[in-house]
Amino acid sequence: MSIIFNKELNIFHIFNNEISYYIYLNENGMLTNPYFGKRLDDIDIDSIFDISHDWQSHYFDNEKKEEGELKNIQFNSSPFIAPTSLAYDTRHNFIEINSEKGSRLDFRYISHRIYKGKPQFDVLPFVRDEDEEANTLEFTLKEKQKEIYLQLSFTIFSDLNLIIRNTKLINKENSSIYIRRLDSLSQDFLRNDFDIIHFPGEWMLERQLCRESLEKGEKCIVSRTGRSSHENNPFVILLDKDANENYGEAYGFSFLWSGSFRFDIESSLTNVTRLTLGLGEELNFEVKSNDEFLAPEGIMVYSPYGTGNISRTLHDLIRNRIVKEANEKVYKEILLNSWEGCYLNFDTKTVLDYLDSAKLIGTKLFVLDDGWFGKRDTDDRSLGDWFVNESKINLDLVIEKCHALNMDFGIWIEPEMINQNSELYKKYPDFAGFLEHNESFLSRHQQFLNMGDDNCVDYIYSELEKLLSTYKIDYVKWDHNRIINDYYAKNLDIKNQGEFIYRNTLGYYKLIKKLREKFPKIHFQGCASGGGRFDLGTLFYFSDIWTSDENDPIQRLFIQYGTSFIYPFSVSGSHVNDNKITGFKEKCLIALFGSYGFELDPRKLSEKEIEEIKEVNEIYLKYHNDVVLKGDLYRLLSPFDMKYFAIDMVSKDKSKCLVLFSNLLKKGRNRFYLKLQGLDKNKSYKNSLDNKVHKGEFYLNVGLNLSKRLEEFETDLIVLEEA
Ligand code: GLA
Repeated sequence: MSIIFNKELNIFHIFNNEISYYIYLNENGMLTNPYFGKRLDDIDIDSIFDISHDWQSHYFDNEKKEEGELKNIQFNSSPFIAPTSLAYDTRHNFIEINSEKGSRLDFRYISHRIYKGKPQFDVLPFVRDEDEEANTLEFTLKEKQKEIYLQLSFTIFSDLNLIIRNTKLINKENSSIYIRRLDSLSQDFLRNDFDIIHFPGEWMLERQLCRESLEKGEKCIVSRTGRSSHENNPFVILLDKDANENYGEAYGFSFLWSGSFRFDIESSLTNVTRLTLGLGEELNFEVKSNDEFLAPEGIMVYSPYGTGNISRTLHDLIRNRIVKEANEKVYKEILLNSWEGCYLNFDTKTVLDYLDSAKLIGTKLFVLDDGWFGKRDTDDRSLGDWFVNESKINLDLVIEKCHALNMDFGIWIEPEMINQNSELYKKYPDFAGFLEHNESFLSRHQQFLNMGDDNCVDYIYSELEKLLSTYKIDYVKWDHNRIINDYYAKNLDIKNQGEFIYRNTLGYYKLIKKLREKFPKIHFQGCASGGGRFDLGTLFYFSDIWTSDENDPIQRLFIQYGTSFIYPFSVSGSHVNDNKITGFKEKCLIALFGSYGFELDPRKLSEKEIEEIKEVNEIYLKYHNDVVLKGDLYRLLSPFDMKYFAIDMVSKDKSKCLVLFSNLLKKGRNRFYLKLQGLDKNKSYKNSLDNKVHKGEFYLNVGLNLSKRLEEFETDLIVLEEA
């Protein structure tokens, strides 16, 4: 992997064994990206950029007092790496500002440097590179008429087929400028024959797979909720129209950010495509003289072999370079969460009884969800009062009992929120992120704090620090149960209200960062009414995220399948609940593909149910770590086709494989073979379907015969192990 600058041709080549990203610097100091794709060593700029004459490529050179002509630049079709509002480029920009000198922007090359390693930040999440394995190319660009600078960087790793982009603006003007837009990435393509995959959803129906043809015009995928949201996820794929899981070119885009976001994808008449991803549209951020502004880190993945490869690249990136688990032991324990078992209605005795029954299903970690603090018997009060409701629950006793049963203990919090009916609101009304004289729209009876106010973050930190230092807590589930809208930051001037949406998300990161530093052994799980804040930014600080409040296993097949396009199962919380429609075996098998646990009243389980659970727990203990947490995922059949769900996961050494199959509608006496992927064709594997041993090539080319497994919603897990 390397970055090479060819001085004669003015071309930068960023590459590893699999991919190439080229940047061309023309004689006017403009930077374009002629190629991003499969590794390519021979490039010819003139032949790529050749196009019929364009009247708009002339300009008047103020110094020479004569006309000049831009070579290899066509405003409405050149692939700029930092597209701005240049005269005739009528496509959307990736940066917009207001300043005393106007809003026109024309950034030109000043210098570059190539270095080992990559950018890292104090609070903003970033892709980790502790051993400086990456290479980075950093450009400094200057606005032609203003003292405004852009630092753009492109990072590559040898083992990941992706480019990481960073963008910083530096204001050296004598006065403030206001940023209305500074996107994290932009990618122009010299083609527009794409399909697009994105992941719309809602509460309890997160990340549903949606594939459409990209038509001419602009498509925008957006969250205006102050969080990455249930409604859309900050991840899209552009792919060949005939691409599938294993075939065709595909490009995936995301960034390390947990707040509002906006993708603009513009397919032009000139047969080009521009994709940008950045902070939400409410941004208006003052950058004072000599100050700077950082956009979140952007990721651009490339696969010449379809979407499966995009996912596997991202899974490795997330597991190896984004997530930093605090406590492997706690994370891998079989968990019981109290929420669906008793909601807010519990007392010390109930919880102690739970623990006795919990051990029967192999629980090693008990998590007490909402309801233990302030006066929280109903959900219209006490958010913000992070002290134990001693008249309701004796936490010391509960933790003692957990330890006596060899279980760890976890607790639920929702630190960024407030109920107006709380001690916190009485004491510090100014921490609330809204104006009282407005008729507040509540969501689940609650409001939110202004996390952009450092005083508020410090106060919440000190309360949580007390809690976590007083009790022996090994695991924290961190929730966020409403959207951020109608906001007003009382610590900011009226002209700075457009900073709220950025500062609020930074405050979230500041708080979790401080807590992780203080309590390095506590495992933190993210959550936002289920999966309303499932993003790469959250994963930098939290090792897994509660995927969805929907625990019905068949619905979960869809949610987990969509989620898997970007996020590995190792970060995807999935629990078995008490719904009576599906059997425990099926529920457990589906929950196995995630960070596994239970959410039910264990006292109500029958002996038969406990036996079913124990059987799957055994599989969990034997295979989950190597196969589900660390292995490679192959999506075989999509539930969104409404016929079957099928995936397999293969351990990195290809010695073990788990196949999860679910038949959605009864098929009668159909013949049905499921061809597997990812196995070593020369290894021999014994399968748990008929206990026979076959070579990998048999499973890859003939498949598993599932013709007798086609009842409605029949779900099976087949284990293959090297024989
Ligand atoms: C959210 C979470 C649930 C549960 C409740 C508690 O909805 O997604 O898992 O923690 O809050 O109020």
